[in-house]
Amino acid sequence: MTNSSNSLRTVSIIGTGRYLPEKVVTNDDLAKIVDTNDEWIYTRTGMRERRIARDDQATSDLATEAARAALADAGVAAEEVDLLIVATLSPDMFFPSTACFVQEQIGANNAYCFDLGAACSGSLFAIETAKNQIACGAVQTALVIGAEKMSTFIDWEDRSTCVLFGDGAGAVVLRATGAERGIMQGTYGSDGSLADLLWTPGGGSRNPISQAVIEQKQQFLKMEGREVYKHAVKQMTQSTLKVLEMNELTADDIKCFVAHQANARIISAIGSRLDVQDRMFMNVEKYANTSAAALLIALDEVVKSGTVQQGDLVLLVAFGGGFTWGANIVEWTKS
Ligand code: ACO
Repeated sequence: MTNSSNSLRTVSIIGTGRYLPEKVVTNDDLAKIVDTNDEWIYTRTGMRERRIARDDQATSDLATEAARAALADAGVAAEEVDLLIVATLSPDMFFPSTACFVQEQIGANNAYCFDLGAACSGSLFAIETAKNQIACGAVQTALVIGAEKMSTFIDWEDRSTCVLFGDGAGAVVLRATGAERGIMQGTYGSDGSLADLLWTPGGGSRNPISQAVIEQKQQFLKMEGREVYKHAVKQMTQSTLKVLEMNELTADDIKCFVAHQANARIISAIGSRLDVQDRMFMNVEKYANTSAAALLIALDEVVKSGTVQQGDLVLLVAFGGGFTWGANIVEWTKS
């Protein structure tokens, strides 16, 4: 596990945005295509509906909408962006990066662009990466996007996974500011020995696309749900405690806890272990699990709802395939 060091310059999130596709798919809609029902899904996951992108929308199209919203919120022109990172596990294609397609669509002509792959923890890792680039003076303005078209990579005949995911995108703009604390020290970790509990085993260089891969549906996400659940609760709880300790804070100092929106039971379990249930944000009911997009969609909703004001502290915590996990604390500097 790595802990980030203190920054040379204080870096803040100066704008947020999100985009959710228009099409709503309810639990009852899913019950028409797989053997499931609203009661099972809602009781086990807290999900009622999710958004699904149009066939003609790729991940970069969702990312572009969220990016435009975040730039407008920050009052920053696309040409001012020096670094553009897209966190995703559902890229438009293997290469070039989804970030390059977003660059072209928004006109961020002065940015260098790449994708970051850390599954559902991706947007948290991307914020840390961008923060450090700004803190050391390598860049001035960064745009971090979490975007997913999960609907392309799930097996719509597998009721154990297809009910859990949705499509969407969230984005943040980062800059050095005169804030006292900004994005504070974070804690991040990974455990590759557990990769096969949550992965897409086919279609890459290990197991290239072939008739056999397609017949075995290995190009789709596979998950050991119960194991993922246990590790997600454990790692997000421990990361939260650790990041508080590192920054010499207690849970009482945090205005709002924003966890990866994987499942309401996971979020509630963390909330009750830390006795912060009343400050755990949740929107999984509306959007299901949007993987790397979830944290930034949630942050935008928290901010736009007026829950956090200038100087309030927001704790971000995530967990995803890899396994990967982490947490950081953000001093809100834009009301
Ligand atoms: N509808 C109805 N029944 C279902 C469904 C469904 N959609 N899916 C599974 N079942 C059935 C199973 O077949 C099983 O039936 P059986 O007992 O006859 O064999 C029964 O329900 C229980 O299945 P379990 O998998 O044991 O159910 P569980 O209570 O563990 O809940 C769930 C499954 C919701 C997936 C849970 O394990 C979970 O939340 N895991 C974490 C998943 C997650 O959040 N992943 C993402 C985190 S990281 C990231 O975001 C990438």
